[in-house]
This record gives sequence, structure tokens and C-alpha cells, in this order.
Amino acid sequence: SQSAFAFVDGVLHAEGVSAVSLAEQFGTPLYVYSRAALTQAYQAYANACAGRRASVHVAVKANSNLAVLNVFARLGAGFDIVSSGELARVLAAGGKAENTVFSGVGKSAGEMREALAAGVKCFNVESIPELDRLNAVAASMGKTAPVSLRVNPDVDPKTHPYISTGLKANKFGVAFDDARATYRAAASMPNLHVVGIDCHIGSQITEISPYLDAVDRLLELVEQIEADGTKIHHIDVGGGLGIQYDTETPPDIGEFVKTLLDHIDARGHGHREVFFEPGRSVTGNAGILLTRVEFLKPGEEKNFAIVDAAMNDLARPAMYQAFHAIEPAVTRDAAAHVYDVVGPVCESGDWLGRDRQLAIEAGDLLAIRSAGAYGFVMSSNYNTRPRAAEVMVDGNDAHVVRARENVKDLFAGETVLPK
Ligand code: LLP
Repeated sequence: SQSAFAFVDGVLHAEGVSAVSLAEQFGTPLYVYSRAALTQAYQAYANACAGRRASVHVAVKANSNLAVLNVFARLGAGFDIVSSGELARVLAAGGKAENTVFSGVGKSAGEMREALAAGVKCFNVESIPELDRLNAVAASMGKTAPVSLRVNPDVDPKTHPYISTGLKANKFGVAFDDARATYRAAASMPNLHVVGIDCHIGSQITEISPYLDAVDRLLELVEQIEADGTKIHHIDVGGGLGIQYDTETPPDIGEFVKTLLDHIDARGHGHREVFFEPGRSVTGNAGILLTRVEFLKPGEEKNFAIVDAAMNDLARPAMYQAFHAIEPAVTRDAAAHVYDVVGPVCESGDWLGRDRQLAIEAGDLLAIRSAGAYGFVMSSNYNTRPRAAEVMVDGNDAHVVRARENVKDLFAGETVLPK
């Protein structure tokens, strides 16, 4: 999907539109998504699932822009949500509640009520108190809630500690050793209906083996739960498949899906439906962040390229020391120098790339790659910086899918004391 962003005569293009004209028309910093890249990544999942009992629920948290969700909804995608806010976005974008699963470790009673009223497909529940709450909410509405338990398979996904979620020392999921008893508790609650089992072992995972280990552990449990008389219809393997930011070599999406489905078949569980919850792998490389160089600042130890995007626009480098490729949108025939690419926010942690070899001058346009997942959605207004505009390119057309914020909007809800 990287190919939706390619150089034509030395100028970076998003599909048929040049980055230079996007920046001129819409300003910077600017998030740019490619409809073709979103479609291609989603279709890789959908095609590998075709003819199998499998479905894809796109993780809304990775990119919740309505236009992005709408592209997926038109392709028939389901969604994975973690709040009633995300449910509202899915519905506004043309997604269906009956194709939506509700994840998250801290659902409020109000969120449960909204999701039950809308008719979501499944609640991925993470604890006994959450089961109790959901049972009570469902009872108060005269409904039965479909549930699966998120089980912690305690496998090492070999990813960054901040984004690994399936290990024992983690806040997520029901401990493997408690899972069977928790299923018994769920089965005994009159307003819950157990339908599946779920896990999510982490994010930016670049190997298939941790998934196979997780599935093996889940299937072990499924057999015990069914021996206890509770039927498990679906197995949700979560999201987490990695993308190429730098030199990573993640498995191809189709290969990943087929390997998992074949593994589940081979273990004699092919009659169950399998759910996938991809976020990063369907949106990450379908987006870039365009930013302009404000100043080049030579320093004693380092040279800085100060750009107009900052940690409030793209938090991943500051938060996780994440690598995002950065390249000039227009190739210059000049000597490259080494720069730290940093934003204008008043924090040393405000950097976007370190020690990058770049042939640039002040005023140049840079593209920060792989910014379609956990990019805009994690942006903030720190330093009273209006959030960037988002644009989606579709062939030769560019559509503003979120207007740039303006400063007045930022304090519109604030008031000073009367005296
Ligand atoms: N399902 C559940 C239950 C999740 O918690 C997540 C992500 C996903 C699916 C989607 O995972 P993905 O396919 O995108 O890896 N902000 C971090 C990533 C946090 C991921 C949280 N959970 C980052 O920027 O790297």
C-alpha cells in the first residue's frame, strides 16, 4: 500500500495528486490519506477471508475519521470500538452496529446501554465486575448481551513494551488460569449470552508465531469451556499485525490471515467463525503527514530542522521513540546533512525524527510516512495548537475530510469567572 505514495519526476504524489499542490491548497501540517491504499489493505484481509467463516472488524481507534471509516464501511467491513464515541462515529460513517464488536477494559454503564440499544454484535469483556455490570445493564433493559471474554494468553509478541498487551503483568484481559471459571460465571448470568472468546496480544507484531501460540492456548480453553456446557461460536484473534516503518519485514496480510485460518482448521476448529481486529495494518501506510521546514538551525552537537508539525500532531516518536520515515516531498539535487527533525512545541521530547540525512532548505515540504494509524487520532491541542486538517485523495481528487481547527474553536467552551 506504500505505492499509493510515490515520486513522479522528483515530486511525491498521493495517488494522482502532488504533495506540493496539497500543501498549497490546504496548508500544513496536513494529514493525507489515500483511498486506494486503505482499500487495498482492507481487501487483502477480506480476500483472504473470502469463502471462510471469518470476518474483519477494523479497529476504529487507529484512525477514526468518518471518511476513513466510510471507505471501510462501503467495502462491507465490521468495526472494533472501545467507546460510545467510537460507536457514534461508526454509525455516522455508515457502519452497522450488528457488525461491531465492543472492546475495552473500562466500559461505563452508559456506554454499555448505548451499545446494547444499538445492537452491537459482541461485548469483549475483560473481568468479572464488568460481567456483573453488563448483566445488570442488560437486565434493566430487558435484553440479553452477547459476550466473549478477552483472555490473556500470556504470549510474548516481541514488540515495544508500551504496546504489548498479552503478557501477565498487563492490565488487559482475564488471566489464562482464571478464564474457565470466569466463563462459568458468565454462563450463569441470566442476561448474558456467551458467544465467543477473544484475545489481543499487542501491536506492531511482525511475526506470525506469537499468534499461533495465542490461538493454541485459546483453543485449549475452548475445549474446556465447551466441556462445561457453554458453546463458543467465534474466536477473535484481535489486531496487532505490524507494518513497515523502517526495515521491519512483517508478514503479508493475506499470508497472515491464511496461516491463522489454516492453523485453526488443522486443529479441528474450522467450524468456528474467526474475527480479526486490524487497525495499524489497514490504515498505517495509507497516510502521511505533510509538514514545512520553518528554520534550519545549526547547533553545537546537532543540526535541527524545525518544522511546523510537532508532537501534538504526531505523538508516536515522543511517546514510543517510534521511527517514521521522513523525506523531502520534492527531491533536491544538493548535499544532504544530518538533522534532528523537531517541532515548535516547548519540550525537548518534541521530535519527529532523529539523525536524518536530508537535502533540505527552509521552506521545503517534508513527508512523514506511515502516519495513517495512531497519528491524527492521538493528536492534541498542546501549546494551543489547532489540530491539522485531514485530506483524502481519491485518484486525481483531494477532499478535505476534516477541516483545520482554528484558535477560537479551541477555547470556545471556556469561560472566565464572573468576578
Ligand atoms: N483490538 C484491540 C482490543 C486493541 O486494543 C487494539 C489496539 C487493536 C485491536 C488494533 O491493534 P493494531 O492492529 O492497530 O495493532 N498507540 C499505539 C498503538 C496502541 C494499540 C492499542 N490497541 C501506537 O501508536 O503504536
